[in-house]
Amino acid sequence: MKAWALTAFGGPDGFTPVDIATPEAGPGQVLVRTAAIGINGLECKIRAGWLEREFPTPLPAVLGKEFAGTVVALGDGAAGFSVGDRVVGFADSGTYAEHAVARTGALAVLPDALAFADAVTLPVAVETAVRGIRALGVRAGWTVVVNGAAGAVGGTAVQLLVRQGATVIGTASEPNHEHLTALGATPVAYGPGVAARIRDHGAVDAVFDVTGHGFAATAVELTGDPRRVLTIADFAAAALGVLTSTGPAAPTAEPFAPVVALAAAGGFRTVVDRVFPFADLPAAHVRSDGGHVRGKVVVTC
Ligand SMILES: NC(=O)c1ccc[n+]([C@@H]2O[C@H](COP(=O)([O-])OP(=O)(O)OC[C@H]3O[C@@H](n4cnc5c(N)ncnc54)[C@H](OP(=O)(O)O)[C@@H]3O)[C@@H](O)[C@H]2O)c1
Repeated sequence: MKAWALTAFGGPDGFTPVDIATPEAGPGQVLVRTAAIGINGLECKIRAGWLEREFPTPLPAVLGKEFAGTVVALGDGAAGFSVGDRVVGFADSGTYAEHAVARTGALAVLPDALAFADAVTLPVAVETAVRGIRALGVRAGWTVVVNGAAGAVGGTAVQLLVRQGATVIGTASEPNHEHLTALGATPVAYGPGVAARIRDHGAVDAVFDVTGHGFAATAVELTGDPRRVLTIADFAAAALGVLTSTGPAAPTAEPFAPVVALAAAGGFRTVVDRVFPFADLPAAHVRSDGGHVRGKVVVTC
């Protein structure tokens, strides 16, 4: 099968097109023909070689975790799925490839109403947003600031928070303010003076810092309590006493499967920043590296 292998740490030109053996579905796994791949910031950081301590990656390596496609083979004991099912979720093998294997517990069946490219925006963003919202203990009626609200995790957190009765203030650059309003948040520009602009909208109960950029100290100032601040991007901020969170080693479909159904029914907005063909996968990393993605960068296969 065709795949993109990372052969050198650094820029997106470290990816090389390769022909490798198609993986086989092991016990409790299915083999999926990839239709869409989600590009995540974590993969860009791994590619750059910044995470060798946390995620040592022997090269060559096929990166990628999140995908959508069609089941083509079942491993022993892979219950609940059939060949031909459209699925979305987390793979056990690299998803920058024509096929990948996944545990059945990490996949959700995809309703026909949801396109592969839309569905693939959900697993990582929803798992992360749900984890953050749960860790903060958000209750209906709270006012929550989402820092980096226009990205994949941020836009997802905004929608989930609004659904559970929170008032949401989202930071983004001016061109994304209309987008945040459509998602249900009050938009505020980040940068100098951001704390005052947020306070103009009232008291803040919690901050979900999705993007970092040195916002954690401001977040503690806004909430008055570091335990009401959670960051998923600025781990040095732990020194301030704020909560940090990293993803599970073996993520499941539990957090995102209900949102897949909701999105298929029109109750949740999937946001695709840009779609790149598989042959241009390195260009998708260039786009993500730019730091101003609205929603998710997607590669179709
Ligand atoms: N720890 C975990 O479990 C976990 C899980 C998933 C992701 N992550 C990390 O979380 C981060 C967010 O990921 P993502 O995929 O949602 O989005 P992303 O692509 O990393 O971020 C894009 C967004 O950041 C916004 N942004 C840029 N500069 C900003 C600033 N100074 N202040 C506020 N917002 C700013 C941009 O908005 P504008 O275009 O309007 O500037 C854009 O919408 C990444 O660093 C990723 O690695 C961590």
